[in-house]
Amino acid sequence: MKNVDLVLSKAYVDGLWVDAKQGKTVEIVNPANGEVITRVPDMGKEDAEAAVIAADTAFQTWRKTTAKSRAQLLRKWFDLIVENAETLATLLTTEQGKPYKEAYGEVMYGASFIEWFAEEAKRAYGDHIPAANPHNRYMTIKQPVGVVTAITPWNFPIAMITRKVGPALAAGCTVVVKPGEDTPLCALAMAALAEQAGIPKGVINVVTTSRPAEIGDVLCRHPLVRKVSFTGSTPVGKLILRQAADTVKKVSMELGGNAPFIVFDDADLDKAVQGALISKYRNAGQTCVCTNRLYIHDAIYDEFMARFTQVVSDLKIGDGLEDGTDIGPLINEKAVDKVAGLVEQALEQGAQLALGGQVSALGKQFYEPTILTNVSESMDIAHQELFGPVTTVFRFNDEADVIRRANDTPYGLAAYFYTRDHSRVWRVSEALDYGIIGINEGIISTEVAPFGGVKESGCGREGSKYGIDDYMEIKYLCHGIDV
Ligand code: SIN
Repeated sequence: MKNVDLVLSKAYVDGLWVDAKQGKTVEIVNPANGEVITRVPDMGKEDAEAAVIAADTAFQTWRKTTAKSRAQLLRKWFDLIVENAETLATLLTTEQGKPYKEAYGEVMYGASFIEWFAEEAKRAYGDHIPAANPHNRYMTIKQPVGVVTAITPWNFPIAMITRKVGPALAAGCTVVVKPGEDTPLCALAMAALAEQAGIPKGVINVVTTSRPAEIGDVLCRHPLVRKVSFTGSTPVGKLILRQAADTVKKVSMELGGNAPFIVFDDADLDKAVQGALISKYRNAGQTCVCTNRLYIHDAIYDEFMARFTQVVSDLKIGDGLEDGTDIGPLINEKAVDKVAGLVEQALEQGAQLALGGQVSALGKQFYEPTILTNVSESMDIAHQELFGPVTTVFRFNDEADVIRRANDTPYGLAAYFYTRDHSRVWRVSEALDYGIIGINEGIISTEVAPFGGVKESGCGREGSKYGIDDYMEIKYLCHGIDV
C-alpha cells in the first residue's frame, strides 16, 4: 500500500480521531483470507449522540459559507481521492473483497460524485415567480436541510459515501456517516482525505460500530438530524422510515432490487451476453442493480445459453489482489450460507444446475459462479434479491407476458433489455416499472444520471442534477410591496 497513513484505527468525530467512549473495539477482517486487518472503535449510543451534536454545531457555520467556497473544498477533496486512488483501491479490496480492477473503478466512480457536486453546489438556483397580484413579488430560495445521517453499505464502501456526502456538503449540510460494519476502513480513509482538504471539523463525522441497530436508533431518531439517507436492504429501510417518521425527517432510501434482464429474439447476442455477464457478476453479484432474473426468448435460448455459459465458466475466482481475478470472496460467511441455501432450495423445487452451485475449493467465503436454468416464478428464488454470483434463467416467447413477469415483484430499482427494434425500445421502457432501465447496456451507473428506484426499492434520486435537491428545502418568499 503506497500511503499506509490512510489505514486508520480510530473514528472521526468533531475533527478528532477518537476511540469509542466505552473503549470497545472490533476486528476488521479481510474476507479473502480471514486475516485481521486492524481494529476500529466499536461505538455505541453515546458516541452517535456526540457525532450528531458535533455535526449540528458545525452546521451553524457551514450553512453560511458560500457555495463557491464549498465547491473549492470539495474539489480539493476530489483531487486528493484521485491522487490516492491506488491506496484506496487496495484498501477497498482488502476489506471488501472485490477484484482490484473493480475497486479502482469504484474509487474513480466515487470520486466523480465529489467532482460533480463540487460543480452543482454553484447551481442550486431558486426561482422568481411571476406574481398573481400587483402587490406581491414571489421568489424561492434553496437552503440546506441540516444535519444528515448517511448510512452506507459494505458493497460500495467508497462510492455510496461520496454519492451522499458530496451533495450533502455541496448543499451546505453536515453529515454523520455510519459505514457498513464490515467495511469502515475506506470511510475513515475518505474522512482523513477530507480533513487534509480542509473541510472543517464536524462537517463530516464517521462513527464505526459492530452494533448498527444501537447506533442507528440514535442517528435515525435524533431531533437534530433532519435527513436520513440510507442504502441497504428493504427490510432495514422500512425500519429506518419508521424511526425517522416520529420527527418527520426528509429521507432518501436506496433499497433492494430484483432486476430482470430480458433478451428479445432480435437482440445482438454478443452484446447481450457481455451485458448479462457484467451486470450479473460484477462485485460477485453483490450490487442492488445486479441482474437477478435472466429472461431469454425461446427462439434464441439455446444459442444465448451456450455462449453465456462459456463466458461465465471462464471467470476466475480468487483473492481480489491477485492479477486476473474476476470474482472475489463474498463479504462474509453469512452471505455464502444465504446464497448456498437459495441455490439448494431452487434445485429441490425443480431448477437445473448448468454451472457451479458449490462453495469453491479456494475457501469458505468463495462461491462458484453459478447458473440455474428451468427456473420459474413459482420458486422462492425468483422473489429474492440474490446478492451473489448466481444467475437464474427463465424462458419467454411473448413481449406482453415477459413485461408482466418482469414487473411481478415489489421491487423496482433496475431492469435491462436487449432488442434492435426501436418501437419496442419505447414500449418496453415505458412499461417496465423500474427507476433505471438499461437498453442494450449492462452498466448503468454514472454520476451524471439519476440513480434510484420505485415501489419497495426506495425513494429519492442520487447523483445527477437531481441529487442535490434531496439535501435542500425550497423556501418560498412572498414579498408585499407598494405600487
Ligand atoms: C448499489 O449496489 O447500491 C450501487 C450500485 C451502483 O452504484 O452501481
